[in-house]
This record gives sequence, structure tokens and C-alpha cells, in this order.
Amino acid sequence: MSQKQKNETMGEHSFLLPDLAATQALAVRLGRLLRAGDVVALYGGLGAGKTAFARALIQSLQAPLGLVEEVPSPTFSLVQHYQIGPLGLWHFDLYRLSGPGETHELGLEEAFAEGVSLIEWPQCVESRLPPNRLEIYLEIPADAGIQESRRQVRLAGYGDWPERMQNV
Ligand SMILES: Nc1ncnc2c1ncn2[C@@H]1O[C@H](COP(=O)(O)OP(=O)(O)O)[C@@H](O)[C@H]1O
Ligand SMILES: [Mg+2]
Repeated sequence: MSQKQKNETMGEHSFLLPDLAATQALAVRLGRLLRAGDVVALYGGLGAGKTAFARALIQSLQAPLGLVEEVPSPTFSLVQHYQIGPLGLWHFDLYRLSGPGETHELGLEEAFAEGVSLIEWPQCVESRLPPNRLEIYLEIPADAGIQESRRQVRLAGYGDWPERMQNV
């Protein structure tokens, strides 16, 4: 497969999430599809809901195993690791990185190879993301007020994702 083909979006869904519960429900549905090796890149501005999405996803995987854990935003730690039964999950927030040069200590490759990676602010590591990945774009509608709970979401799936995400 050529580089161009690899990088082409092969599956896309856009829809409106009317409230936080809808974002959480999408996170639960996508969480069920995840397996070791998966990379989910979470795009969107501050407050768009990336952490809320990741938290709901992580907790939905923990709950059946009786794991009750805080899922803090990795804003300052840059990465949080969760062991969920046999599954390792890494939750990254790369907002505070100033450039790709700072990403080497993060253990990205280990995460990509061994578990599920959820990456907020993935812009700095885009060139290192595997071709097989799901990108999620969350956006607050332009006409939104301060208490807005609607979010526009776009899922862009590459590799085997178009097939896997057909029914989300
Ligand atoms: N539909 C929605 N989806 C996600 N978050 C929402 C939604 N509606 C309201 N919110 C609120 O917006 C905020 C999103 O914050 P957060 O997830 O930390 O954003 P980000 O990680 O993208 O900066 C939370 O306070 C959340 O409760
Ligand atoms: Mg966040």
C-alpha cells in the first residue's frame, strides 16, 4: 500500500452529540471495539470533551471488572496508565508539549505496541501515529452559549477502522 493510500480517510461518520450523556454513550460503544494495539487520536479545543470522552471510555472498561478508579485528566502528568484485566491502556494529553522533540520519553511506541492508546492533543506526534488508527474530532458548535452541551463529532477511521466502526 502506498503512503498516500495509507493516509487516506477510509471511513467517516459525523453526527451531533446533544449532551454529555451522548458523548459518554459513544465512548462506551467505541470502547467495546477496542483491543491491544489500537490508537485513538482525540482532537478538539479546550473544553470540547476529549477528557470526558476518554474518562467514560476507560470507566466503561473498568466497571465490568469491578475496578473503581478515578480517571484524572493527564494534563500535568502527560500520561496515565491503566491496567484493565489483561488490557493495558495509556491515556495521553500532549497539550503541554512544545514540540515533537519532547515526545521521546513518553513511551508512545510501547503503548502502541502493547495496549490501547487514547491521545488528547495528538498534533505533536502525528507523524508517529500508526496508519491503523481512529481519529475523533470534537467541536463545540460555533453558535454555542456558555452552558452549551451540544458537541459535533466526526470519526475518521483508517486501516481496519472503517469496517469496525460501521455500527457505532
Ligand atoms: N456533550 C458533551 N460532551 C462532552 N463534554 C461535555 C458535553 N456537554 C458538556 N460537557 C462538559 O464540557 C467539559 C469538557 O471538558 P473536558 O472533557 O475536560 O474537555 P477537553 O479534555 O476537551 O479539554 C466538561 O465539563 C463536560 O462536563
Ligand atoms: Mg482534556
